[in-house]
Amino acid sequence: RLPTQVKLVEVGPRDGLQNESVAIDASTKVELVDRLTDAGLSYIETGSFVSPKWVPQMATSSDVFAQIRRNPKVTYAALTPNLQGLQAAIAAGADEVAIFGAASQSFSQKNINCSIDESLERFHDVVELAKQHDLKIRGYVSCVLGCPYEGDIAPEKVAEVARALFAMGCYEISLGDTIGVGTPHKVQEMLVAVNKYIPMDKLAVHFHDTYGQALANIYTALNMGISVIDSSVAGLGGCPYAKGASGNVATEDVVYLLDGLGIDHGINFDLLLKAGWFISDKLERPAISKVSNAMRAK
Ligand code: HMG
Ligand code: MG
Repeated sequence: RLPTQVKLVEVGPRDGLQNESVAIDASTKVELVDRLTDAGLSYIETGSFVSPKWVPQMATSSDVFAQIRRNPKVTYAALTPNLQGLQAAIAAGADEVAIFGAASQSFSQKNINCSIDESLERFHDVVELAKQHDLKIRGYVSCVLGCPYEGDIAPEKVAEVARALFAMGCYEISLGDTIGVGTPHKVQEMLVAVNKYIPMDKLAVHFHDTYGQALANIYTALNMGISVIDSSVAGLGGCPYAKGASGNVATEDVVYLLDGLGIDHGINFDLLLKAGWFISDKLERPAISKVSNAMRAK
């Protein structure tokens, strides 16, 4: 029942770095993206075009897009919450964009300053303009297994928001456990609810590893037919509007798991580890990845 091949969506340069309080040079971000390209990642979320007052770390995204060494086989994507963001992403030459909603009303307010319904209306305009520019659009749903403000979130609510984004024209919906509280049975329940409206091959999982459950949750999702996994090199990450949300699951940990399961992923493990050590050294702290640290200690 496991897939034979998995696509990894590398979110380190965006989700990974957006929460860092000390400004990181565009040149460091560029080197990180270039190293991830060389490591064989086929999809790299390179930045976001959001308000610099809300997320100062992403203010350099245009520079990063301008300076990366692009491999034509790689998709360099950006988050775009509104038309202003989409226009900036188009100007920067993003290959693809992503809109991001939430299954929790409070999180939507805190993260993008509007209700779920208002966000869907706004996204509608973003999708229409993106289509005119032949840009593919990915959709995120946050808080799919819990919300930092509301606690439990009903799987039906997740399904409803995911369905709306899919109906709008998102080619894939990434289901985000923003604060990493989920456990396997909850993952199962949530995926069954969403799968009533969206086929498994149009879904991705985006798990933060705050409570150390991400790999168990990913294994569960793989067994249910999910074959796209979001992860972040060196386990970097966290959302500024989800207190205590630590890193995304580390790409290194996912690659190690996939290798053990005999699932193809197309990543050069050695170059991936080096990319993780590069950014960890820049941030002056060890990677949040057991695999990365074990390999470095060898
Ligand atoms: P707002 O204040 O309601 O926006 O923020 P506004 O339209 O009223 O505009 C206010 C000001 O923001 C104006 O500037 C606009 O120009 C500016 P002023 O006139 O005051 O100087 N502005 C922008 N500037 C640059 N780029 C833009 C843009 N839009 C407006 N695109 C807004 C609404 C959505 C902009 C704001 O709330 C925002 O930027 N939020 C982003 C939050 C964010 O990036 N969160 C992290 C990403 S989501 C995440 O991490 C979860 C995920 O990983 C999945 C998971 O883990 O669950 C995806
Ligand atoms: Mg995230």
